[in-house]
Amino acid sequence: MLIPNRFRPWLLSRLPEGNLHASLRWQAVLRYAVIAFIFSVTLSTILLFRRPERSFIDTRTKFFQNSWHRNATHPIDRLIGDAYAYHKALLDHRSLNLSSAADQYRKRRQRHPPPGFDAWFDYAVAHDAIVVESFFDRIYADLAPYWALEPLTIAERASSWHHVVRVRNGVANGTGNTEGMVPWLQLWTALVAEAAPYLPDVDMPINYMDESRLLVPWEQIEEYVQVERSYRSLVPFDKVMTNYTGLAKVDSKGEVRPYDPHWLIEANYWNLTRVTCAPDAPSRNVGPIEDLVMPPSVPEGWNPDYQYRGYVRNFTGSMDPCIQPHLRGMHGTFIEPVSLSTSKELIPLFGGSKLLTNNEILIPGAMYLTDDPFYSGGDSHGPPWSQKKTGVVWRGVASGGRNKKENWMHFQRHRLVEMLNGTTVSEVERTRSRAMTFEMPPLAKYDFPRRREGKIGEWLQEFADVGFVNLLCFPADSNCTYVRPYFSEVESVPMVEQYKYKFMPDADGNSFSARFRGLLSSTSLPLKSTIYAEWHDDRLIPWLHFAPLDNTLQDLYAVLDYFTRDRRGDDAARFIAEEGASWGAKVLRREDMLLYVWRLLLEFARICDENRKWLGYIDDL
Ligand SMILES: *[C@@H]1O[C@H](CO)[C@@H](O)[C@H](O)[C@H]1NC(C)=O
Ligand SMILES: *[C@@H]1O[C@H](CO)[C@@H](O)[C@H](O)[C@H]1NC(C)=O
Ligand SMILES: *[C@@H]1O[C@H](CO)[C@@H](O)[C@H](O)[C@H]1NC(C)=O
Ligand SMILES: *[C@@H]1O[C@H](CO)[C@@H](O)[C@H](O)[C@H]1NC(C)=O
Ligand SMILES: *[C@@H]1O[C@H](CO)[C@@H](O)[C@H](O)[C@H]1NC(C)=O
Ligand SMILES: *[C@@H]1O[C@H](CO)[C@@H](O)[C@H](O)[C@H]1NC(C)=O
Ligand SMILES: *[C@@H]1O[C@H](CO)[C@@H](O)[C@H](O)[C@H]1NC(C)=O
Ligand SMILES: *[C@@H]1O[C@H](CO)[C@@H](O)[C@H](O)[C@H]1NC(C)=O
Repeated sequence: MLIPNRFRPWLLSRLPEGNLHASLRWQAVLRYAVIAFIFSVTLSTILLFRRPERSFIDTRTKFFQNSWHRNATHPIDRLIGDAYAYHKALLDHRSLNLSSAADQYRKRRQRHPPPGFDAWFDYAVAHDAIVVESFFDRIYADLAPYWALEPLTIAERASSWHHVVRVRNGVANGTGNTEGMVPWLQLWTALVAEAAPYLPDVDMPINYMDESRLLVPWEQIEEYVQVERSYRSLVPFDKVMTNYTGLAKVDSKGEVRPYDPHWLIEANYWNLTRVTCAPDAPSRNVGPIEDLVMPPSVPEGWNPDYQYRGYVRNFTGSMDPCIQPHLRGMHGTFIEPVSLSTSKELIPLFGGSKLLTNNEILIPGAMYLTDDPFYSGGDSHGPPWSQKKTGVVWRGVASGGRNKKENWMHFQRHRLVEMLNGTTVSEVERTRSRAMTFEMPPLAKYDFPRRREGKIGEWLQEFADVGFVNLLCFPADSNCTYVRPYFSEVESVPMVEQYKYKFMPDADGNSFSARFRGLLSSTSLPLKSTIYAEWHDDRLIPWLHFAPLDNTLQDLYAVLDYFTRDRRGDDAARFIAEEGASWGAKVLRREDMLLYVWRLLLEFARICDENRKWLGYIDDL
């Protein structure tokens, strides 16, 4: 989810100072020409090969024709243009046949695809899946360290875990006690069952906690990852083995007690996290916040590389706690997780989300597999853009961790809700004081009329409908006296109703927000900040499929202002909302989640196989 330099041909900083104006004009002309060309090609392709989706085409045309003038100087204009070009370049690498898919695989992974790759690709073709090899990068980043463990060790630990989706002889079976628990095991098992006839025997041990649990120190992971590199090679044909060994050895041992490493349940989560950062990373030697009673603050002059003139460009960077020491005081995960049970040892464990610094193996969150309208909003994706209210809506509980009298100001959801409370913001503007959970973004960095004139609060009173449905205070009998002056509980609003608003921020809870897929599929515009990585990250492009926000939310007002200050901003918002919805309908389907898990299990089975080095698919050669 990052935009390499080669896709940023219009980078201003490269220009000599003296010629700036002439070059700028030239650049603008060139940019307009390039974009006009891209669009005429895209449009004719769409018109020729697809059922016309009138409103989407209108939006694209309108947005790019009316908006991409030489006057387009807002940094977000640039970010949207770059995102579009980057995405288009990605799609040029789409694999349309098996031999090209296998070829792309070998180029990117430096080994043969796993046995079973052909059936996997056949399913992808039969279901019109868009296969771009880089969409699966997450699988390889997650699995790399596991090559350092002995195959039999991983296989045994996977098999004996408390909750396992087990595949034997082409049949999937979820095992483990889920009495009184959420039905995640069943949902994941049902997904794997669809691929099971084509899978080798394999076990998928799953994490049943909300929180991610593995934090292996950086030095250890570096060593492990080196082992994986040493295994990478395109094994000569005559040495390649095409059949998995199977798990007979593991199964012959019968019932084995689950392998539990040493679980830390008292430790400080920030302390555990920072040792997973590189030795020279800014967070590595910064301890946890000592005095939580002090409100959080953003470092002065904060201007990280992952932003472009104040706006998130590299979304992965924005998620990275290693480069943002202040996140230790701005996210419930680092303040007080509801439950903590973390290991520094690498064990096989699959889960729906994790920090970039966690070592779990990601699969699509189980909530994405339910039909529960609580997460998805059901089948309705909202009215067309023109019929939506120009406003921002959010409802949720005050989760993120255990919020208490002495720490609640450091929670991300409290920050979001307080920042969008018009009454509070008006007061902050009037008295030039600071709010409990945030400071007003610096005018020098985010300068626009509403901010300059102190009218954000007044604007929000009309524009925002945001609040907690449950304050989740601790202890429960505290009556929430510590937050009552700042928050009140409001009526919940079903997702279907929320889709009637144009803007929908999304915030992490105790871990990832399971609403994101629903928001993307809707015709409203999701605004997203998170520290949690998910399976789909490599296939979603910020500023094309959703609007990214910094975890500090310092950019929140400026982003909302950009989208609402004039016609062109509204066109941009609609463009992203509709691009996100149509892209989601192509790459976030159940079929796409199945393909992700299917590919992952082929790879995991290979790592668990004593012949891991020799296993491969070579029929295409
Ligand atoms: C571009 O900016 C100039 C000067 O600010 C203004 O006169 C002109 O109308 C603008 N053009 C568009 C298309 O917005
Ligand atoms: C497979 O696709 C590639 C590029 O997409 C193309 O060059 C090649 O001719 C195709 N091969 C077959 C067998 O269709
Ligand atoms: C699934 O596993 C359980 C034991 O955990 C077993 O009782 C059950 O028969 C298995 N179901 C199938 C379909 O294999
Ligand atoms: C691999 O498995 C297939 C199908 O079970 C079998 O026909 C074939 O003989 C096996 N190949 C080897 C080398 O064991
Ligand atoms: C965090 O780690 C530092 C240094 O390793 C230690 O001094 C401190 O007590 C730890 N903090 C907590 C809250 O555990
Ligand atoms: C984006 O951020 C990630 C995480 O910090 C980093 O690894 C990556 O190099 C960054 N990409 C670019 C192009 O700066
Ligand atoms: C909470 O409210 C109830 C009723 O309003 C009251 O009886 C109780 O003392 C309150 N508890 C605290 C801890 O303030
Ligand atoms: C908004 O803030 C005011 C205090 O400024 C508070 O009384 C009110 O409950 C807040 N509204 C919501 C929905 O939290």
